[in-house]
Amino acid sequence: MIRRATVVVAVVALAVIGWLWFDSRMPSAYSALDMGRPEYGGGSVPSGHAGHSHGGGEPTGSSVDVTDLVLDPARPADVTVTLVARQEAVRLANGTTIDGYTVNGMSPGPTIEAVDGQVVEVRFRNENVTGGATLHWHGMDVPNAMDGVAGVTQDAVLPGGEFVYRWIAERGTYWYHSHQLSHEQVLRGLFGAIVVRAAGAPQADDVVALSHTYGSVRTLSGAQESTLPAQVGSRVRVRIVNTDNGPIPVWVAGAPYRLVAVDGRDLVGPGEVSTTKVLVTAGGRADVEVVVPVGGVRVQVPGASIAIGSSTAPTASAPTAILDLLSYGKPAALRFDLTRVDRTFRYDIGRRPGFLFGKPGIWWSINGAVGKDVPMFMVEQGDVVRMTLHNSSGEVHPMHLHGHHLLVLSRNGTPSTGSPWWVDSLNVENGETYEVVFVADNPGIWMDHCHNLPHASEGLMTHLMDAGATTGFKLGTVNDPE
Ligand code: C2O
Ligand code: CU
Repeated sequence: MIRRATVVVAVVALAVIGWLWFDSRMPSAYSALDMGRPEYGGGSVPSGHAGHSHGGGEPTGSSVDVTDLVLDPARPADVTVTLVARQEAVRLANGTTIDGYTVNGMSPGPTIEAVDGQVVEVRFRNENVTGGATLHWHGMDVPNAMDGVAGVTQDAVLPGGEFVYRWIAERGTYWYHSHQLSHEQVLRGLFGAIVVRAAGAPQADDVVALSHTYGSVRTLSGAQESTLPAQVGSRVRVRIVNTDNGPIPVWVAGAPYRLVAVDGRDLVGPGEVSTTKVLVTAGGRADVEVVVPVGGVRVQVPGASIAIGSSTAPTASAPTAILDLLSYGKPAALRFDLTRVDRTFRYDIGRRPGFLFGKPGIWWSINGAVGKDVPMFMVEQGDVVRMTLHNSSGEVHPMHLHGHHLLVLSRNGTPSTGSPWWVDSLNVENGETYEVVFVADNPGIWMDHCHNLPHASEGLMTHLMDAGATTGFKLGTVNDPE
């Protein structure tokens, strides 16, 4: 009897598992609109969208195709750049080479420089990257068709192909990287920096420090050690960009510093810091300002540094305490009404066994779901959206929403009392809960994912979308944004 019951249980369990597997699969080509269950966060459910446009069919009502979300073509470009991606050996400053990708023959690729408000036009060409490639403008709130997500806002650019990107430069430090097979292409070099200065700002005394680990070598803009000449007494801004998959501590030896901007947004009233380090979120940016003392000053990350003013600037070991951005700087008025809330979402990060598009494994989960059952956050233009991010997955996740900046309201229930803290990449440690708010003011379909890029390819990714947005691009073909 017992044996018979056991067999029945086993058969039922197998049937359930088989059904879960069957149900988790996707056709070989599918629309981003078909992955994720729509959630409306307590806001209105537009007519014609209560279902979901299965099979990529046109929803009724006012809909807009992502390819129409572009910058006014009549606006002439102020800055034009040609970027060519190549699959080839990357030569590091220390003489070693790794198999990887370059942009215009180098990695990091050239820095795009512009002035606030200028129209930037980038002609992107894929010379020989066999898997296809795109460019995504990380942190720049560009029109959706320019977002560079293969399979959602465009097709991957195949060898010999081109794509022209046009967007308006916003002041601050950003970066670009491929958003096709990004866990592989970013790791191996297909990225570069974007620096947008205020009109009339001096170009000197400003340095980009793209932190990237090639193989096992941590570099700042391609070198483990470099020296920036600078006058004693001058003010230097070091624009740190974390292009790696985990958070990176940054600290300064030889002088106090100020953290003047995070993720392209200036902080208000940043005070002098000397005993704490800054933790830069993966994908995030931190602009650190120093006044050069006699003997020089050194900006450090583990394994690499930039000496400023003198190649023999002092070094120091990393402080243990982390600068807490929840209370750093001074509060300031906001551009929108914080008491208004149109939608409220949860983004709960966990981990569980299941099937990710037909593949069995232990996957990252969002609100308990994996693969095509994750939530799809639906908004309408102008909505003030609150989101609570909670992480109980056992690992840190750098969460990145495309096309928008998020204002941090609280962490673990403690409200933000310092400068308004705007992010596009937020380091959510295991056990932490962040409450953020943003205005849905950029129409389209936007990825909202972990920027530890292998995690994104292991399911930690979903979309925020306009109720009316549609896309004809397909995933699962050559297009694979993660
Ligand atoms: Cu840095 Cu989805 O991107
Ligand atoms: Cu992650």
